[in-house]
Amino acid sequence: MTFRQRHLLGIEPLAPAEIVTLLDLAERYVELNRRTVKRADALEGLTQVNMFFEPSTRTQASFELAGKRLGADVMNMAVAQSSVTKGETLIDTALTLNAMRPDLLVVRHPESGAVSLLASKVDCAVVNAGDGRHEHPTQALLDALTIRRAKGRLQRLTIAICGDIAHSRVARSNLILLGKMENRIRLVGPATLMPADGFGCEVFEDMAAGLEGADVVMMLRLQKERMDGGFIPSAREYFHRWGLDAEKLARAKPDAIVMHPGPMNRGVEIDGTIADDIRRSVIQDQVEMGVAVRMAALDLLARNLRAERGARATEEGIRV
Ligand code: NCD
Repeated sequence: MTFRQRHLLGIEPLAPAEIVTLLDLAERYVELNRRTVKRADALEGLTQVNMFFEPSTRTQASFELAGKRLGADVMNMAVAQSSVTKGETLIDTALTLNAMRPDLLVVRHPESGAVSLLASKVDCAVVNAGDGRHEHPTQALLDALTIRRAKGRLQRLTIAICGDIAHSRVARSNLILLGKMENRIRLVGPATLMPADGFGCEVFEDMAAGLEGADVVMMLRLQKERMDGGFIPSAREYFHRWGLDAEKLARAKPDAIVMHPGPMNRGVEIDGTIADDIRRSVIQDQVEMGVAVRMAALDLLARNLRAERGARATEEGIRV
């Protein structure tokens, strides 16, 4: 098993072998999660704190379930009611929490780089659950597991990532991961929602051309909260040109899968009928894989944490 990370802050620092290790372990947790009794002891005795400075449904819920199914004591910090609203800085909050000796800290924050900064101030393992437009590593890992299960491989696939690329940490983490695994990645969307350098990928403004022959069609939410006006003409016009409907999907391979990280704006970036079509859409599989991938991530980080602490204790001559 190869997984040398102390934190999971992004896909960028991961070697392909580490990604494969994590996905293989997640497969075992998929099996566990399908049993009636979903219990393992990888995090027994450890304390996990979830700190979400941005709204979240599936990510927060799945990190909570992941920790509990592995036996951790899980606390969700109610950020809206915490001292953060009284003006406490992120670092002060982190130091306060650190003094309570958590072992795993799961953080979502609206600023890119905030989670890394926090990781440098605490003693526990930190998982980035999304920082600004930067990275959302567990989302890319759960997407990778979903693709690998649906397509039987994670290499040599043509993957179209469509929509609001510029504001999307999901797009960034995904294209880094899928690039490391040697896939062909296309970015499809309006020029106003495309990063200036196109992240070095093939860029298409025309949806039909971008989807031609694709194995995977990954749709993204239009992130209105990160826009300050003037990015798109109107929701109706956006759907007409870049919303995924049956006609546009017909350009992709006949067995192409449709993905969306959620939450969806039905009728804006995706037609509701396509999203609900279980022959094409793997959106619910993504949610299922999310719990398993987060269990695998927490498990691997906990192993490294125990190994590090064990080594330190041995050096100090303390028996653990
Ligand atoms: C994404 C996020 O928060 O980055 N959602 C998620 O984690 N499932 C994508 C989004 O908000 O559009």
